[in-house]
Amino acid sequence: MKKKIKCFNSIKELIFNYKFFISKEIKIKGWVKHFRYNCFIIINDGSTINNLQIFIDKKFYSLVKKINIGISIEVIGVLVLSQGKEQNIEIYANKIKIIGKFSPEELQKTILQPKTHSFKKLREQAYLRFRTSIFSSILRIRHNISFSIHKFFFQKNFMYINTPIITTYDSEGAGEMFRVTNFDLKKIPLNEKGELNNNLDFFGTSTYLTVSGQLQGEAAASGLGKIYTFGPTFRAEKSNTFRHLSEFWMIEPEMSFSKLVHNMNFAEKLLKYVIKFVINNSYEDLFFLEKKNKRKIFKRLNNVLESSFERISYTNAIKILKSRKKVEFLQSINWGEDLKSEHEKFLAENYFNNPIIIYNYPLKIKPFYMRINNDNKTVAAMDIIFPYIGEIIGGSQREERYNVLLKRILELNLNIKSLWWYLNIRRFGSVPHSGFGLGFERLIQYITNIDNIKDVIPFPRYPNHAYF
Ligand code: 4AD
Ligand code: MG
Repeated sequence: MKKKIKCFNSIKELIFNYKFFISKEIKIKGWVKHFRYNCFIIINDGSTINNLQIFIDKKFYSLVKKINIGISIEVIGVLVLSQGKEQNIEIYANKIKIIGKFSPEELQKTILQPKTHSFKKLREQAYLRFRTSIFSSILRIRHNISFSIHKFFFQKNFMYINTPIITTYDSEGAGEMFRVTNFDLKKIPLNEKGELNNNLDFFGTSTYLTVSGQLQGEAAASGLGKIYTFGPTFRAEKSNTFRHLSEFWMIEPEMSFSKLVHNMNFAEKLLKYVIKFVINNSYEDLFFLEKKNKRKIFKRLNNVLESSFERISYTNAIKILKSRKKVEFLQSINWGEDLKSEHEKFLAENYFNNPIIIYNYPLKIKPFYMRINNDNKTVAAMDIIFPYIGEIIGGSQREERYNVLLKRILELNLNIKSLWWYLNIRRFGSVPHSGFGLGFERLIQYITNIDNIKDVIPFPRYPNHAYF
């Protein structure tokens, strides 16, 4: 009778179930990470930060000469408890099959060589960095953060909706949109005035990649009650900083029958839920990053869980900033101006040393859809600022009054032709509603304590960089 071999789909699955298979023959696959004492091959398959140790006896020595770091192998062997301190189990190999190989010379040219590479170097070979311990760790955490966000909304009875990626308007009004066209750029059609004839473009009008799914989200919430989107958004900002991407993912809940204060409470709950979930479910990866990067991760995350986010109006924030005579800011700040990142940094890191929520910003510096407060000077906006990252969430209560919104659209000279439907939501049983946008990569950056946002997304897009 043929012997039964237990085939494991992943090292994670094996580690989870090992107790049931001690002394049994099993099959597992992975990529070679390194060798130990000539008699162990260490493999990993990306499913967990934990490697698997394969014991090889003399009969394999000629085969092992053909094995170098990075190649893929299949191992059939007996699962045994390990004598070593670093792992519970190891495989006593009976059969080793090389699946995909390449030469040690080729290895020298890649980031697969077992040494510490800079994040910049890893980015240059971004298509290979999934194989490194550090990047696979970050991406497993990213995966768990994403799952926890969906779980949170599911538990709160929010409906997940998908909003379009191609749009006709700039909801944030910052003029940072990527144009979408299928014009033949060598023969662009012009009208009588010599201007671009957008009527002849694919959609019969000018179109762009969306900067936010919010406006359609509001339409959905005005029937479904509570919704969220979780999709890619695009910004043609020229800012190539540690916290900006040209393509990033945003989570945007929208809640009917909800005012600003509820919006703030809800955002704080979401962030704390996600952090708690990730501490519980990505413990090994976070622990690995903490050790590897010599960064405090758990302490920082626990501080967030234990704190209640400080809430301060924009006007009071300006008062604090102006009263700090001793603090030298590169840019001065007056009421009515947007806070620069150095101001946010000072408030969150030095003054409060806590996540903060700044609310009621001046009308003039915020998008058209925010609800105007009774003072007629400020809007019911709120930004959540985290130490070391800056703005992680931007949101507001929305202007639900038809006439007030119409006046604002006209004042700002916005294109009513593409916004009429948004205005119309206010005509059919309009309700107070609010929502926010959470920058997914900024959240991952904070949780993993990784300096550059380009290192927490599989394939970053930023000015002059759309490789891979
Ligand atoms: O503050 P923003 O621009 O808000 C909106 O787009 C609203 N429509 C959201 C809403 O109310 N539904 O962006 C929201 C968040 C920011 O707080 C930040 O975390 C992130 O998106 N973000 C970026 N992340 C990476 N790269 C960029 N270039 C980003 N721009 C904004
Ligand atoms: Mg913002």
